[in-house]
Amino acid sequence: MELKRQLLFCCISLLQLLHCRSEHSSIGFATVALCPDISALPSRHAKSKMLCGTACSAPTWTATCSTSPVRPDSATLATRPARDSDLRQRVRASAEPIAEQLSLKMLYRFGTHGLENAADPSKYRLWSGSATTIDAQGAHFVEDSNSFLMAATPCFEGFFNVGHKFSIFVRAKHPMNIDGTYMTMRECVGNKVSQDFYTYDRNFWHDMYWPPQPKYVLTKSGNVFTRSSSVALVSSGMTYDTNGAAHYFFNGSMHPAMMASPDSSGTLTNSRFQCIELGGYLKTPRYSVRGSMSCFAMSTRLLTQAEFVQLDNWCKQV
Ligand SMILES: *[C@@H]1O[C@H](CO)[C@@H](O)[C@H](O)[C@H]1NC(C)=O
Repeated sequence: MELKRQLLFCCISLLQLLHCRSEHSSIGFATVALCPDISALPSRHAKSKMLCGTACSAPTWTATCSTSPVRPDSATLATRPARDSDLRQRVRASAEPIAEQLSLKMLYRFGTHGLENAADPSKYRLWSGSATTIDAQGAHFVEDSNSFLMAATPCFEGFFNVGHKFSIFVRAKHPMNIDGTYMTMRECVGNKVSQDFYTYDRNFWHDMYWPPQPKYVLTKSGNVFTRSSSVALVSSGMTYDTNGAAHYFFNGSMHPAMMASPDSSGTLTNSRFQCIELGGYLKTPRYSVRGSMSCFAMSTRLLTQAEFVQLDNWCKQV
């Protein structure tokens, strides 16, 4: 009995390993479910057309978007490509060159690409809570529990394990006195968060747990802006070397991170944080961005100041 159990565990571990390995390899043409081009969808659905579920949960569009609760709108089916090969071509055609240059796993420019990941349209397509709207200016968030964007990110948490490096970038517009969440890595169903990038009290903050260690680190940018209720444009980012230092990027300059609480033991025991959430925090309205986000990106290396500026410029091209 004991042996059987071990064998079974071993098989499951192997399967997970294989699954995660394929996540990291760079396959040019995977057969994927791809939503129709946003631009091809009927414009009177100005809001709902951006909901991934609307476009993709119909029988012909499976997998990537099936987690959305939204029912398909039959009108969107008309834009379905005729054959598999068309589908693959379109996947290839829409990957942006800057993604490879800056090692981006995620790149969203909502005004032009809707909820599609411009770094690799076959992965991490977002879906939208019902209170979030998208237009040419970007994704708009309000103080409402249904205001957020989410994507399933299977195996993604490996990019943040100890020994790795990563960077996050956000271009947003919001009042400068909010406690607003740009990004969390979280459980898809449960309410635990392993990582949190947000703005609060003149600082940008990053909160990180590593369940396997377990370890907990909270850093902040220092007072890089003043508290104000007027809406301002913000280009913010952070780089994180899990062996050491973090840096923050704000409106063109880099700032070394300040440790906001000493390294300590984490409290999380689970390591399955397989979703990303943007613009909101676990359906808690007071942590909404309360403004718009035009761009979001994540890289698997430390971006330089010049590279953040390059990314910011790419995000402006709308
Ligand atoms: C960031 O830079 C932009 C463009 O220069 C400016 O409009 C904005 O006010 C700045 N944001 C803050 C919070 O200072």
